[in-house]
Amino acid sequence: MKLSVIGCGYLGAVHAAAMASLGHDVVGIDIDEQKIRMLSDGEAPFFEPGLTELLEAGLTTGRLRFSSDPHDAEGADIHFLAVGTPQVKDGSAADLSFVDGAMDRLLSVLRPGDVVAGKSTVPVGTAARLAHVVNAVGATLAWNPEFLREGWAVKDTVSPDRVVIGVETDAVGAPTPRGIRAADLLKEVYSAPLSSGTPCIITDYATAELVKVAANAFLATKISFINAMAEIAEVTGADVTTLADAIGHDERIGRRFLGAGIGFGGGCLPKDIRAFAARAEELGRGASVDFLRSMDDINMRRRARAVHLVEEALGGSVFGRRVTVLGAAFKPHSDDVRDSPGLDVAARLHGLGAIVTVTDPAAIDNARKVSPQLSYVENRDDAIRDADAIVLVTEWDQYRRQLSAVHVASLTDGRVIVDGRNSFDPAEWRAAGFDYYGMGRP
Ligand code: UGA
Repeated sequence: MKLSVIGCGYLGAVHAAAMASLGHDVVGIDIDEQKIRMLSDGEAPFFEPGLTELLEAGLTTGRLRFSSDPHDAEGADIHFLAVGTPQVKDGSAADLSFVDGAMDRLLSVLRPGDVVAGKSTVPVGTAARLAHVVNAVGATLAWNPEFLREGWAVKDTVSPDRVVIGVETDAVGAPTPRGIRAADLLKEVYSAPLSSGTPCIITDYATAELVKVAANAFLATKISFINAMAEIAEVTGADVTTLADAIGHDERIGRRFLGAGIGFGGGCLPKDIRAFAARAEELGRGASVDFLRSMDDINMRRRARAVHLVEEALGGSVFGRRVTVLGAAFKPHSDDVRDSPGLDVAARLHGLGAIVTVTDPAAIDNARKVSPQLSYVENRDDAIRDADAIVLVTEWDQYRRQLSAVHVASLTDGRVIVDGRNSFDPAEWRAAGFDYYGMGRP
């Protein structure tokens, strides 16, 4: 099929390359000319395992191209809308200006019968609003949320665990003929994963929009739940990792996303739960998701807790002390530092007068732009040398698996390790002479 993907950020670039790999003829459109140049040269504008290979393959076969001219979207059967919806500067709602701007530009190229498939994470009600303008030119809108995780984006896009398609429905919630046609076209796009058993849910616009934010709200809640247990563990001497293992054996609960630590960050979970709460407020149902504000509060408190642990470990103050922070990305396998809990912890320590050195296998360039006041050292061992305290904030394998306590002890006389992701074995570090501090662990 002929597809266009409007917006070539994280979501759009991966989606465009993945759709080409499924055999479609794809043009990716973005107003950022530099991004378009990079993508056209087969270079991923961000760190994402497997993306460069997919770009190269698509560009070589000629099935994938990129352009900054919106008119190049003309002629596509389906136009995927994949622009960002960041948090507004002066509040917690989602900023829809990129969605609206992209839609305005797209309208001039839409032909009757075209399908526009929204992939961006939007407040519920957005699709119904956009459907009016799309219908007015004889095209059809569908909402097809994306569930990709950074670091696994290629796999999540090529073989998603579900496909959700929201279409126009009638008064009793049944898809209209136009809705059925849009759903059929999207099913054709995803025929490869669907034929191998991926569940496909056809629903109305509001449900499709809500599935996305509900999924992220649930994940954020799961993380904050275990972090709340960590807070209780801290005053009772319990160990939250053992607790998580034990409750995780219950299949109804499950162990995944029960990793206690300095909490969630990134470009999605934090802003999505805030936007959801703001939208619920507008709808007169603020009380229904009031708990999301508590989840946000728990999450932010964990960063403060990590800072406090470093202070405590260094005898009450970090002023003038050398602290090495392992990690800057909001999670491993990513160079994304948007709302990174680890970088926030590093900046707070710096604010308290610590001499902070940050290292990360992928995110240093991005981190430097956000927190230029910190010093960055690429080589892990150089960063650790002579540190008074080491703080793990991003559980990259380079730290979690490939860094032994004995090796660290050979690099520095400092004997403090603060494990912000509960990733190390406390016994190993204690045996090497370190004071080990975990999150919600004795
Ligand atoms: C998240 C969702 O997992 C995706 O399904 C969704 O599509 C995406 O947002 C989005 O809306 O686009 P992502 O932001 O890539 O994906 O990151 P996650 O893997 O969900 O991790 C989020 C944060 O939670 C990270 O900072 C991670 O360190 C933290 N986390 C995760 C924990 O603190 N504990 C855990 O047990 C798991």
